[in-house]
Amino acid sequence: MKQSFFKKELQSMMNLDSENGIDNSEMKNLLAVVKEKKGIDFSDYAYPSLHRRISRFIEINRLSGFSELISKIKNVEGFADSFIHEITVNVTEMFRDPSFWVTLRDHVLPSLRNKPVISIWHAGCSMGEEVYSMAILLKEEKLLSKAKIVATDINMEALKKARNGIYLLKNQELNENNYFHLGGKGKLSEHYKIEGNMAQYDQELIKRVEFKRHDLSSDPYFGMFDMVICRNVFIYFNLSLQEKVLGVFSQSLNPGGFLGIGSKESVSWLKGARYFKPISIEDKVFVKV
Ligand SMILES: C[S@@+](CC[C@H](N)C(=O)[O-])C[C@H]1O[C@@H](n2cnc3c(N)ncnc32)[C@H](O)[C@@H]1O
Repeated sequence: MKQSFFKKELQSMMNLDSENGIDNSEMKNLLAVVKEKKGIDFSDYAYPSLHRRISRFIEINRLSGFSELISKIKNVEGFADSFIHEITVNVTEMFRDPSFWVTLRDHVLPSLRNKPVISIWHAGCSMGEEVYSMAILLKEEKLLSKAKIVATDINMEALKKARNGIYLLKNQELNENNYFHLGGKGKLSEHYKIEGNMAQYDQELIKRVEFKRHDLSSDPYFGMFDMVICRNVFIYFNLSLQEKVLGVFSQSLNPGGFLGIGSKESVSWLKGARYFKPISIEDKVFVKV
C-alpha cells in the first residue's frame, strides 16, 4: 500500500503516467511538434498504445530516443510523413469479421433498398479493402448503381493505395476465405484481374468511391449519410475523443441511419450512445434513434 503510494508520488514528480510509466512531458513535446508540422493532433489518442508504437518506430529507425525523433521530424524532409504512416495502424483486410457483413447484408441493406440514393461513409478506411468489400456486397445486392460512397482517412499513403485498388495477390487468399464465410455469391476473383503478383480490383467498384482526407480528431462532419462504417479506429482514441467522434457520426447520420464499429470495440459507455440502438450486439451494428 505504502510502496504503491510512493511509486505514484515518484512518477508524478517525474511527470510519468502513473499506470504505464510513460513520460508525459516527452510525449507532449513530440505530439506538439507533429501537430505544428503536419496539423494532426494525436494528443487525444490512447497513450499506452500510441507510446508503444512510437517506441517501436524509434527502435526500427535506430534513433537514440524522443529528442532525436523530434529533431528528425522537424528537420528531415518526409520524415514526419513516414512517422505518421507508421503510428497510424493501417492493418485491414476484405470482409474482416465475416458475420459483420452478414448482418449488413441481411439486416441493414434491406431497409435501405428503396432509397433513391444510399450514402455511405467509411471513416478510417485505411488502404480501401473494407470499402471494396462494401462495394462488392452492394453489387451482389444490386444496389451498387445507387450507392454514393465516401471513404476517408488521415494517412495519405494509405489513401493513395486505396484509390488505386491494387493489392498483393497473395493477400487475396485471406480475403477470399472471409468472403466464403459470409456466403458470398460468387468468387472474389471475379472482381479483380491479375497483373503479375498484384490484384487490380474492377473500375466499376473504384469509380463508386470518393476517397478523401478527413481527420476524425479535428475535422467537422461534412455530409449526411445512411450508413457510417468506422471499424477498428475507436480503439486508438481516448474516451474524450471517442465521445467527440461518436457525436460527429450522430450528426452525420440520417434518422434511422446505421453505424458499424469494430467487433472488439464498444461505445456503450459513451454519453452519445443514447442516440443509438443495437441491431446486432455481437457485430456492433447500431441504428440511430
Ligand atoms: C486499423 S485501421 C482500420 C481499417 C479498417 N476500418 C478496418 O477495420 O479494416 C485504422 C485506420 O484509422 C485511421 N485513423 C487513425 N486516426 C484517424 C483520424 N484521426 N482520422 C481518420 N482516420 C484515422 C488510420 O490511418 C488507419 O488507416
